[in-house]
Amino acid sequence: MIREFHNINLSRRNSFGVDQTAHRLIEFDSEEDLRQIFGNGAPSRWMVLSGGNNILFTRDYEGLLLTPVAHQIRIREDRGEEVIVKVDAGVEWDDLVEWAVAHDLWGVENLSLIPGKAGAAPVQNIGAYGAEASQVIRRVRVFLTDACRMVEIEAEKCHFGYRESIFKHELRGRAIITSIEIALHRTPTPHLDYGDVRREVESRGGETLRNIRDAICAIRHSKLPDPATTGNAGSFFKNPIVSAERAEELKREFPDMPVYPTPVEGQVKLAAGWLIDQTGLKGCHEGRVGIHHRQALVLINLGGATGGEVIRFAHSVQEKVKARFGIAIDTEVNII
Ligand code: EPU
Repeated sequence: MIREFHNINLSRRNSFGVDQTAHRLIEFDSEEDLRQIFGNGAPSRWMVLSGGNNILFTRDYEGLLLTPVAHQIRIREDRGEEVIVKVDAGVEWDDLVEWAVAHDLWGVENLSLIPGKAGAAPVQNIGAYGAEASQVIRRVRVFLTDACRMVEIEAEKCHFGYRESIFKHELRGRAIITSIEIALHRTPTPHLDYGDVRREVESRGGETLRNIRDAICAIRHSKLPDPATTGNAGSFFKNPIVSAERAEELKREFPDMPVYPTPVEGQVKLAAGWLIDQTGLKGCHEGRVGIHHRQALVLINLGGATGGEVIRFAHSVQEKVKARFGIAIDTEVNII
């Protein structure tokens, strides 16, 4: 069923808490709703606004925002060791993680507490603590707006990469994700090798699914601001990928600089949070925008900041990192 709103205030629909409006917003819960909306030709300007956790509105939106609200989690196939689960786009990601842990199913526990909806997970291939959504996603069901029909895209065709997928490129503005299918496992597969995860899990008594989830939640609570109280969109910047030679040069000058491997030979990933931290900006603010005091990747709205203020501040952070290290850091957040 469709629910339609006009000139709607978006401050409670984006985790930055930015006070912009949208000309029109439709909440939809079925594929039939999408056929109805796109059946007589696509609206001139539209985009999906899911949980609003990775978006920064810098102005009012003059078009149509589409918000998926269907939120069922269903076991599609129980193959014994592997269980295929169909998850509607409007399911809160962390509700899915809790569901999996409660059903003793492994695969998403390291992705505990990532804010956002399941339908947004494949778009930027959400990831944390050594895991990425692409490791469990088997296929993504989408509505193709040009053709006005549904298709299923197998994971191999989603072109997943670090915070990357086909939905940010070839299918950008042409596809609406309605559900995802993920494969979870009954055999325990703990991944504890990232940062403090092992220590936190051991302090809780060992490698159970529940302990891993609790450990990840505790780490996130201690490092990241809660969007319910402090407007933010998680990591504002992506970790930059540079050539191994460039990293070597920098490492000679900054021996403590963290460097991570990537699946592509000759390319490595640097930590944007570390680079920003080194410029001395962590915990600093300018007017109503600041950098979180425990995680330099996260920009925060100190109350009432406009999207324009946030983006100006973000540019000044990018310039300082560029001046100090010669490295360009790109935004992870979708700027509208
Ligand atoms: N670091 C600093 N100062 C900081 C932040 C980080 O020196 O203020 C250093 C850390 O000490 C560490 C390195 O930078 O050596 C990497 O930091 P961390 O492990 O905290 O991870 P990250 O690269 O900062 C990424 C994701 C996070 C995810 C964490 C944990 C990106 C852009 N961010 O952050 O994702 O939670 O790993 O896996 O890849 C998000 O996408 O919104 C998000 C929070």
